[in-house]
Amino acid sequence: MIVVTRRIPEPALELLQAAGDVWISPHDRPLADDELHAAVKGADAVVTLLHDRVDGDFLDAAGPQLKCIANVAVGYDNVDVAAASERGIVVTNTPGVLTDATADLAMALILIVTRRLAEGERLIRSREPWSWHMFFLLGTSLAGKTLGVVGLGAIGRATAHRARAFGMEIVYAGPRRASEDTEAELGGARRVPLMQLLSTADVVSLHTPLTPETRHLIDSTALRQMRPDAYLVNTSRGPIVDEAALVKALRGHKIAGAALDVFEEEPNVHPGLLELDNVVLIPHLGSATIETRTAMAVLAADNALAVLRGERPPTPVNPEVLATG
Ligand code: GLV
Repeated sequence: MIVVTRRIPEPALELLQAAGDVWISPHDRPLADDELHAAVKGADAVVTLLHDRVDGDFLDAAGPQLKCIANVAVGYDNVDVAAASERGIVVTNTPGVLTDATADLAMALILIVTRRLAEGERLIRSREPWSWHMFFLLGTSLAGKTLGVVGLGAIGRATAHRARAFGMEIVYAGPRRASEDTEAELGGARRVPLMQLLSTADVVSLHTPLTPETRHLIDSTALRQMRPDAYLVNTSRGPIVDEAALVKALRGHKIAGAALDVFEEEPNVHPGLLELDNVVLIPHLGSATIETRTAMAVLAADNALAVLRGERPPTPVNPEVLATG
């Protein structure tokens, strides 16, 4: 049996149903841990969403026949991969298919926050009178400014490409230097230490996975490095930013603004953020296009079905399980 923890696009569901029995949650909400554990009992594969916590208890509740966790997301911080590997369970994610949609959103957020578009929209909806004048809602131009990309993976690179089209220079920080070709394609992008990136970039955009090392990577010390006219954009995972420290930095105008698609305790948003005008808040929409969500779900279904057939899935996270399996 294949368990699907919440409704997914029809083409993916059809693939799964053509291959065998599928149980899909009837609820239009995340399942609580106990509901999830009851639902996955006896499953051979589970198609999970990023709000499902897949830990040792989940895997034990499923039982020893479980072969695959197919997470419908590129990020898999919701899955205890070590616990899955120990039990010989393959974990898969959905890289590639959401790169453009997420980079589009990062670029949109850069534009929204630097041009104060959300403030303008709120102003019009407030029915306050307004008139065009030379100093009305002035933002910041992007041409000639520097984008600091934290994590130059596929999405970071795609965001940097978009920023180049707006005339921005690129610096990046991350564990590895990109190839010379990649750096050249990005107009001579330079790898710099994170603290240097934070102190020089006009816009800092986060594209790193959430791991124990990156949790609160952007804390009060990091925020203090940023310039008072700089902006922070996060389309990766909420806990990479210490939200309480960010609220303080924004309140004190230590940075110019922030645009966030992800939050530390989703779906909750730090109440301090809600009160600030210099922050744009979006409900985790990075991959939210019809095309992208369909492609993600189909890739997850392909992954689950490949594992069930005993084949190598297209995008495994722990391929070592396949090698030893
Ligand atoms: C979405 O946040 C994803 O990781 O795909």
